Amino acid sequence: MGDPARDLEQWIPRLIAVWRRHRKGGKAQPQGRHPRGRFEEDDLPEGNLTHDELRVVGAGVKQLSMGLTRDRALAGARYMDDPKLLGAYLLFYWPVSYAQARSTLSELTSRPRSVMDLGSGPGPLAFAALDAGATSVLAADRSKPALELAKALALEAGEGLATREWSPEKPLPDGKYDLITMGHVVNELFNGQIAPRAQLLEKVLERVNPNGSLVVIEPALRDTSRALLQVRDALVSQGYAVRAPCLFRGNCPALIKESDWCHAERSWRMPGLVEDLARTAGLHKESLKMSYLVLAPKGEAWATPPPGTLFRIVSEPLEGKGRRRFMACGPDGRIGLAMQEKHESETNRLFFKIARGDVIRITDTEERGDGRALTEKSTVEVVASAGRPVLPLPAPAGRGPG
Ligand SMILES: C[S@@+](CC[C@H](N)C(=O)[O-])C[C@H]1O[C@@H](n2cnc3c(N)ncnc32)[C@H](O)[C@@H]1O
Repeated sequence: MGDPARDLEQWIPRLIAVWRRHRKGGKAQPQGRHPRGRFEEDDLPEGNLTHDELRVVGAGVKQLSMGLTRDRALAGARYMDDPKLLGAYLLFYWPVSYAQARSTLSELTSRPRSVMDLGSGPGPLAFAALDAGATSVLAADRSKPALELAKALALEAGEGLATREWSPEKPLPDGKYDLITMGHVVNELFNGQIAPRAQLLEKVLERVNPNGSLVVIEPALRDTSRALLQVRDALVSQGYAVRAPCLFRGNCPALIKESDWCHAERSWRMPGLVEDLARTAGLHKESLKMSYLVLAPKGEAWATPPPGTLFRIVSEPLEGKGRRRFMACGPDGRIGLAMQEKHESETNRLFFKIARGDVIRITDTEERGDGRALTEKSTVEVVASAGRPVLPLPAPAGRGPG
């Protein structure tokens, strides 16, 4: 498995090449295998767009961003069938979804071989799974043009990828898989209703092999994140275990207050193409924000966490006068954790270095308001950095068969 940032960089010229070819209505032809041995686009820069191309794609990105993240008019619409919007998706959102997927897949404790990507679009999660070591991947979506692009990308990269047309009212593609991914699609289904989304995920989970996972990634918006947490609660109440990011096994405490939600944030090396398009479209895209869930198939238990008092950090650092504070969520729920700068010591100074998504173990805290305060005696240890698995306890020795 390669370095995700480097792998993503390798995808950028492929995305651009496939976009240029499809823009002209060309057939999928991998680079270097063109019948004439030369492309007309030979003179165009491989790794970035020309000024004119940026302008055209940037307008599509602006329209997509408005329709998917602002007024939401495009959520559930057939925007992938519009060549301008599909092109904008491919060049801007594809790299973002790919990076989000790599950072989520790095949290799995086992490496999936067989993968199905539902609502794949042009396949960022499917290719992320292949790059993370999967050996057979099926991408399924209702948009034929999006699947065509996924096939063209597979050809361009010399990867094997199967595709299938699918939408939730149709049966799922056959087979069982080590991993099923659903990237930014659940929020577009069933007109916002939670119960049919949860029922769909239950059906999908029936297709996950034992010890496998269903990974759901959603936009980090308040409404889409809260809706995902409601789906989570519906599944948890049916006995499903969450492998990540939750350490708390009850109803999600972020749903208690209307103004709360829970999302992840990862630092990433933003490809120049994404940076250029964000600037052209007038968007800010610095860190990688998403909401996600890794779910276990029915009957599998929640992982036993390592011992001690554990919390996942679920906010950015909330600065106060002379102190640092985070919201954190652990096996006992969601609380505030705070420490005065004057109490910094050898054993607790990591508290000033931790970030959203990290899982920490702490000792010697005191009850304070709605949370706990760290003291000079407190210890802080990072059990898993954001995007890394919280390893379960090894099985007790001497309990093997025989
Ligand atoms: C925002 S895109 C996500 C693409 C890709 N999974 C990603 O994470 O970047 C949402 C995808 O869901 C698909 N989709 C939306 N509604 C759908 C439906 N009812 N049935 C099947 N696919 C659907 C769209 O065609 C689109 O490809």
